[in-house]
Amino acid sequence: MKPTQIKQTNTPAKRVVRFPRPFVFVNMAMTADGKIATANRAVSSFGSARDKEHLYELRATADAVMCGARTADLNKISLGTGAAKFCRLRLKRGLAEHNLRILVTGSGTLDPRAEIFRHRFSPILVLTTTRATEMRLARLRAVADEVKICGKNDINWGATLRWLRTKWKIKRLLCEGGGELNDALFRAGLVDELHLTVCPKIFGGRNAPTISDGIGVARLTDAAQLELKSVERVGDELFLIFRRKIKPSPEPLPMHRSANSPTADVPPNAPSARARRRGD
Ligand SMILES: NC(=O)c1ccc[n+]([C@@H]2O[C@H](COP(=O)([O-])OP(=O)(O)OC[C@H]3O[C@@H](n4cnc5c(N)ncnc54)[C@H](OP(=O)(O)O)[C@@H]3O)[C@@H](O)[C@H]2O)c1
Repeated sequence: MKPTQIKQTNTPAKRVVRFPRPFVFVNMAMTADGKIATANRAVSSFGSARDKEHLYELRATADAVMCGARTADLNKISLGTGAAKFCRLRLKRGLAEHNLRILVTGSGTLDPRAEIFRHRFSPILVLTTTRATEMRLARLRAVADEVKICGKNDINWGATLRWLRTKWKIKRLLCEGGGELNDALFRAGLVDELHLTVCPKIFGGRNAPTISDGIGVARLTDAAQLELKSVERVGDELFLIFRRKIKPSPEPLPMHRSANSPTADVPPNAPSARARRRGD
């Protein structure tokens, strides 16, 4: 898979979008037993060089890359663009040279000394809630470009995504875990696409994190429904892409809206959608 072969979509897989929000896609590497890190959290990077390249290729299609507080705390990450070729690719695609970075910390426990704050190539936004104390907020405000209160006890994801789209012009938002953050987005029905690399390893351990932890769902009907869009084998790894399944609409919906309308949305394979993608 070459960088230019990644098909981009900016339109959430939903028939009617009342307010524009970014297209949300999640990228994770997991072991054959579904783990994203060892139980002691010491190992969370275990994919091949190809998988690493894939991560940068996906970032090169995103306006912003987001992760949860524990992913940012526990790892020396910058959520950066990677090699210069990816910056060039971004500019060619009409994106900013570097992606924005977004960190999520409901109670503000994100460590302000985390490695990511040492890399200042693009704005870092922190999403939090009123659970964060004034002291924690002050420490985060000192290192982040914006700290946004996005809800009382929980992040209100619908409103937050709309804010990200409106204020920060984010059309494609890449979420890179961890499991708790992914779970919140899946439960809110806001993950449009899941990129999954299945790696030939078994970590085991009932406390090892998986791609979607947190609260989870209790009923089958509440499960995120996906459809498999592509499978590619490279060496012993599988690169999978799932797309959110569109629920059949109970009544006919207007299919032809003006492409300039803020509420415009059409099925991803419709000719007008293809034309819009080409123009993006
Ligand atoms: N293999 C991979 O592809 C991959 C990718 C990413 C991460 N990982 C690994 O996964 C592990 C981390 O996963 P994790 O699930 O423990 O942590 P996580 O999702 O990275 O972070 C959890 C923290 O983020 C905040 N948070 C997440 N969702 C939130 C929401 N909806 N509302 C408010 N706050 C929210 C909370 O911070 P507060 O405590 O401040 O409220 C929460 O404690 C690490 O070991 C990491 O290295 C692996």
